[in-house]
Amino acid sequence: MEKLYNQSEIYDLIETERRTGIIRSDWKAFLGDRPIRTLLDVSIGTGAMTLPLQELGITVSGSDLSDNMLSRCKMKAEQKGLPVELKRSDFRDLSCWDGQLFDCVVSTGNSIAYVPNEDIPGVLERMNSLVKPGGYICFDSRNWEKIRREKQRFYFYSPFFREDYRVNLVQVWDYNNDDTITFNLLYSFERDNRVFRREIFEEHYYPFKKDLALDKLASMGYGEFQLKPLPCEEDETDFDKIDWYRVIAKKK
Ligand SMILES: C[S@@+](CC[C@H](N)C(=O)[O-])C[C@H]1O[C@@H](n2cnc3c(N)ncnc32)[C@H](O)[C@@H]1O
Repeated sequence: MEKLYNQSEIYDLIETERRTGIIRSDWKAFLGDRPIRTLLDVSIGTGAMTLPLQELGITVSGSDLSDNMLSRCKMKAEQKGLPVELKRSDFRDLSCWDGQLFDCVVSTGNSIAYVPNEDIPGVLERMNSLVKPGGYICFDSRNWEKIRREKQRFYFYSPFFREDYRVNLVQVWDYNNDDTITFNLLYSFERDNRVFRREIFEEHYYPFKKDLALDKLASMGYGEFQLKPLPCEEDETDFDKIDWYRVIAKKK
């Protein structure tokens, strides 16, 4: 099965100026007045979630497993005239960043669940090794506890419009016997009410409980935890009802 991350131009079809603006204002509200000037995203992908931070005066750096996603991120940053330092790396290693420290190290785009639960504490340790004293770790994730409980199968997106065609995306979630979840991403491209192209991708996730990550952060001396829905303007405070959350915590 072809990987979506080898076709980053399809991944980015969801991106519009409006969406990017919403992501930027959401970061601004979420980060508040924390003194963050440098930020490393260890699953930066095409930069959809973190390049918008550049206009907030933050110097963004990033790494990712996928060369294809990184190339597109580089292109987008250069087009804006705001280049980023990028490296190819699994976030279970991150030694490529040794010698550099950041005000904030993040993992965006529900990416932590790409690795088995037993690898997550190690990922947080690697991220921590790159955070300045008094800096922050931040990550976002789907609420896997809610997903497992409700066993939702379908996730619909509003159509994306491009020049003379439209793109429909539906995710169909398969719950596997080994407790992993496969997201089937079904794209159809249509023009004049006829489908002229179809693409199917599979993404495989290892759902994890939020406390696995939060307890590890606390054990490494992190405090001042903030957990909010993503986007944070949603005022839901009951974790059981939040679909997607983002956490930030401060290194003591
Ligand atoms: C859903 S995309 C999110 C990309 C970007 N953060 C965003 O929000 O648009 C997930 C990203 O995680 C990356 N990824 C998956 N497993 C990884 C790993 N073990 N180490 C680093 N990156 C990984 C993928 O290559 C992909 O770019």
